[in-house]
Amino acid sequence: MSLLPISPDSPWLAPLAGYSDLPFRMLCRRRGCATACTEMVSIKGLKYDGKGTKALLATCDEDNPLVVQLFGGEPQDYFLTMPQLVDEGYSFFDLNAGCPVKKVLKTGGGSALHLDPDRLVATAQAMVAVAGEGRVGVKIRLGFMNGEDNFLEIAKRLEDIGAAWITMHPRYGKQMFSGTADWSKLAELKRNISIPVIGSGDLFTAEAAIECIRQTGIDGIMFARGALYDPAIFSRYLKLLGNPSCVDLPPFDLGKTMEEHILMTREFDGSNRSFRKIRSILPRYAKGMDGIRAIRSELTACQNWDELLDKARNVSKLTMNRC
Ligand SMILES: Cc1cc2nc3c(=O)[nH]c(=O)nc-3n(C[C@H](O)[C@H](O)[C@H](O)COP(=O)(O)O)c2cc1C
Repeated sequence: MSLLPISPDSPWLAPLAGYSDLPFRMLCRRRGCATACTEMVSIKGLKYDGKGTKALLATCDEDNPLVVQLFGGEPQDYFLTMPQLVDEGYSFFDLNAGCPVKKVLKTGGGSALHLDPDRLVATAQAMVAVAGEGRVGVKIRLGFMNGEDNFLEIAKRLEDIGAAWITMHPRYGKQMFSGTADWSKLAELKRNISIPVIGSGDLFTAEAAIECIRQTGIDGIMFARGALYDPAIFSRYLKLLGNPSCVDLPPFDLGKTMEEHILMTREFDGSNRSFRKIRSILPRYAKGMDGIRAIRSELTACQNWDELLDKARNVSKLTMNRC
């Protein structure tokens, strides 16, 4: 049984490499995100590299509940390195068995694990042995090669070894992000296992997430790209579900969203590196809006935190429409 809230009215923030860092997670939590995942973290990187990889695990008391997503396809690495994470207070973990990028496939991890279900299951089993039951989930795809599904076989085995939830992005590894997510496979998964199923894939709007749950009967959803463009997707979704507690949640306001993201980023890490990262990330909030080019060039020309804040506050005064 999962020790985390997994239900339609507890939307999750997906693991998003390069994006789901501490400030972004907090931005989403303030808008109704119930559980957030870290960016994927290399289990080998934790062992050998330390500092850079450790930075991905930055958190704070309010960043809770937090799921640490790990990648790497060798069970012994988890036995060796995860106990330290548990000692440091991290409680929930997710195995990345879905990522299709080369850097991850080379480790035998991500969606490459679909090619070796025994190793996938052994890796998850190692994680459950270290973290305890109720604390480990696995994020899978339909299979690795297009048309070669093995998600059901894998999910049933994961249920047997004590995985607490399965998240599925219903595309194949080889497919990367092309085509559309096949939600009917989420329904098939839900019908065949008894642990909670979280759906991911093409949830770009609050309405799409509601529809996905309606069509498939899955237990919960996870916002990914939808939240990157607009973290207020969480509050809109909760409002649509009729949740009275989200009346006070902030609606989307481009300038205010940028300003809040800048302030939180500076608070958690005021380094130059962090400044350059947030400066490059902000324009995505204006994706599809008229005037995005001008906003992007103004933001990327900023040389320090105060200039960036000024620009964001100016954007607040503009009325922006998504085309
Ligand atoms: C920029 C980006 C980074 C991602 N990073 C991860 C990751 O670290 N781990 C993971 O399991 N999935 C990762 N994903 C996949 C998402 O978590 C999600 O499953 C996928 O985007 C499908 O959902 P969507 O269509 O609603 O965006 C990433 C996706 C994007 C676009």
